[in-house]
Amino acid sequence: MAQAASSTSETVVGSTTTIVETTVEVRSVAPGKTKRQIDNLYPPKSHALQISKYGDTSVFQWAEVSTVQIQSPYDIIIKVSAAGVNPFDYKFRKGNYAVFGKVKFPLVLGLEFSGIVVAKGEKVNKVHLLDKIWGTIRGGCYSEFIRVNTATEYGVALKPTSVSHIEAAGAPICALSAYGALVTLGELPVGDKAEAGKHKVLIIGASGGVGTFAVQIAKVLCKAKVTAVCSGANAELVRRLGADKVVDYTIQDFTADENDYDVVVDCVGNQNDFYHKTIPLLKKKGTFVSVAFDNDDNKVSLGDLTKLSFQYVGRKFFGARKYRALYGVNRKDFSKLVPYFERHEIKTVVAEKFPLREAAKAHEKIETRRTAGKIILTT
Ligand SMILES: NC(=O)c1ccc[n+]([C@@H]2O[C@H](COP(=O)([O-])OP(=O)(O)OC[C@H]3O[C@@H](n4cnc5c(N)ncnc54)[C@H](OP(=O)(O)O)[C@@H]3O)[C@@H](O)[C@H]2O)c1
Repeated sequence: MAQAASSTSETVVGSTTTIVETTVEVRSVAPGKTKRQIDNLYPPKSHALQISKYGDTSVFQWAEVSTVQIQSPYDIIIKVSAAGVNPFDYKFRKGNYAVFGKVKFPLVLGLEFSGIVVAKGEKVNKVHLLDKIWGTIRGGCYSEFIRVNTATEYGVALKPTSVSHIEAAGAPICALSAYGALVTLGELPVGDKAEAGKHKVLIIGASGGVGTFAVQIAKVLCKAKVTAVCSGANAELVRRLGADKVVDYTIQDFTADENDYDVVVDCVGNQNDFYHKTIPLLKKKGTFVSVAFDNDDNKVSLGDLTKLSFQYVGRKFFGARKYRALYGVNRKDFSKLVPYFERHEIKTVVAEKFPLREAAKAHEKIETRRTAGKIILTT
């Protein structure tokens, strides 16, 4: 499919947790596993949930396809166990991003997955058959099998055994978005450089896919004081994730609350114009980060992009507080997050699961934009 999320700034080199290959060594089958077991898992024909045009959920087609094959010595074939659903998927399905260029139909949506390696190229040495892998690629995860090039895909890693396929499939895109918003664009310090309680963060849309990770990353990695905005029904969930304070936007005006935030992260967007509403809440050198710069129902037009760039330039040179928009995830950051999942310091909140071929139901659900956590598709 078309490239899903472009990178904001792919400048940070991943650590050892991702599987990007550099040297040559061949090992075919994980110890104790026979080739017959692998063959059973890798049939010549399989299924993918395709769309053959933009439109509503009726465009999904459960198609029998030739199972993907190894094409480069660095490729691995993964039998997908679960795939995460993101608002990007339904916006793309509806044609909201058509302005970014023509795509070739039929195509398969899906930016994140967790699954099992069933074949590998001869130069793949960090991954073995039957290893469990999770991560984000640039599309195609609504399939029973995917091909991943281990030489170029930085957002893919060995899945910790402590994390289930379901949890793993829902993590990469939203966790990377939250990290990008808070650390890359919000410039909050992490780990040893972070001082407990020094920075204050406001997260709008704290109960959604990105928001649930933003609360955890702000607390665990950035050691910040977190105020979370969500509906009362999800207040307890967000509190459990670590929020110091929860404001129910349905009964309280959070803009009338505290006013010394270092970073405001907007995971809701749409017509709310949280930038102007939250400028007075930011410290002088504070940063507003929009994760959701596009509207749900509108197609992104060239006019929108021009307006956004002018607004950006205007704010950069004339505005006191920074406005930053997250346009995509930096897959090279994935390796930094994996250990936190392994130690259960960051978790995926699973809202609901659907069988892959019923992704239409999952899309109808996520389009309501009232999902608490992540929706997952299972094969
Ligand atoms: N730039 C990127 O790379 C990138 C990456 C990922 C996502 N995104 C975008 O970021 C946005 C958020 O994604 P997501 O996965 O978090 O979406 P999501 O899971 O659909 O978000 C749903 C959440 O939004 C909350 N919400 C809805 N209206 C609200 C309001 N007025 N005030 C506060 N909270 C409100 C809901 O909370 P309650 O039910 O509690 O009200 C719900 O929990 C989407 O537009 C997505 O396309 C961008």
